[in-house]
Amino acid sequence: MVETARKRIREWQEEGKAHCEAQQRPWVTLAFAQSLDGSLTFAQGQPSALSGEAALHLTHGLRVEHQAILVGIGTVLADNPRLTVRLIKGTHPQPLILDTQLRTPLESHVMHHPSNPPWIFTSIRAAERRRHILETRGAHVIPLVSEPGERIPLPRLLNDLWHRGIRTLMVEGGATVLTAFLEARLLDAAIITLAPVWIGGYHYINKLLISPERQAPGLMLLYHELYDHDLVLWGRPTERQI
Ligand SMILES: NC(=O)c1ccc[n+]([C@@H]2O[C@H](COP(=O)([O-])OP(=O)(O)OC[C@H]3O[C@@H](n4cnc5c(N)ncnc54)[C@H](OP(=O)(O)O)[C@@H]3O)[C@@H](O)[C@H]2O)c1
Repeated sequence: MVETARKRIREWQEEGKAHCEAQQRPWVTLAFAQSLDGSLTFAQGQPSALSGEAALHLTHGLRVEHQAILVGIGTVLADNPRLTVRLIKGTHPQPLILDTQLRTPLESHVMHHPSNPPWIFTSIRAAERRRHILETRGAHVIPLVSEPGERIPLPRLLNDLWHRGIRTLMVEGGATVLTAFLEARLLDAAIITLAPVWIGGYHYINKLLISPERQAPGLMLLYHELYDHDLVLWGRPTERQI
């Protein structure tokens, strides 16, 4: 089943090539797990493990099909993820972190990646000394222009990635980052693992996403599959009138 899923995402990426080329940005897949009530985890900053073993294999299969994998600093601090491919054979995607204040811990797993030190996207105002320390430990720190108080501007980030040769990007979370991609309508596919459990925890949509014209980001659901007890939904983005 994972092989079919991998083939499907490859086909979608191939179909989307011309669009991404025109936009000068990578193909973007949002891939994450949520509970029935839309929680990503129990509480912000708590590690999450919502998906079962089969759905985890799918996640690792999808990682192989993307050149880069992105998380926010909140996820690095909460989960200390490795962002590698472990459950199946394949090449590790390049790990990327959004981190305007350069809080990535030196001892975090991602700083000890087996092949690809992380690319840490930050603000041009980030502390020079901290940048130097992270770079001494192997990270590639990339400052992007942003307004004071603004987070990393996603269109600029994606354009930068394009110019660094990244054509396919998997965004794994966490909540704030997923909300930002949805708000900016910067996605080409979403693969959502729905764990059959109610948690009432930390929800991933933390602001209103509806436009003044009452358009909301939605999905054209193209596939749904059971991975043991988890329902995996596959869709392409669309705007829905609410
Ligand atoms: N269920 C799942 O599939 C899944 C997957 C991943 C994570 N999680 C869970 O999600 C939680 C973490 O979520 P979170 O919301 O706290 O953190 P997050 O989304 O991982 O990271 C958010 C942080 O990234 C930085 N950032 C920089 N530019 C940004 C931009 N343009 N848009 C959004 N963020 C930007 C900001 O910090 P600065 O201002 O300091 O830069 C922001 O606070 C954890 O508890 C983790 O377990 C669950």
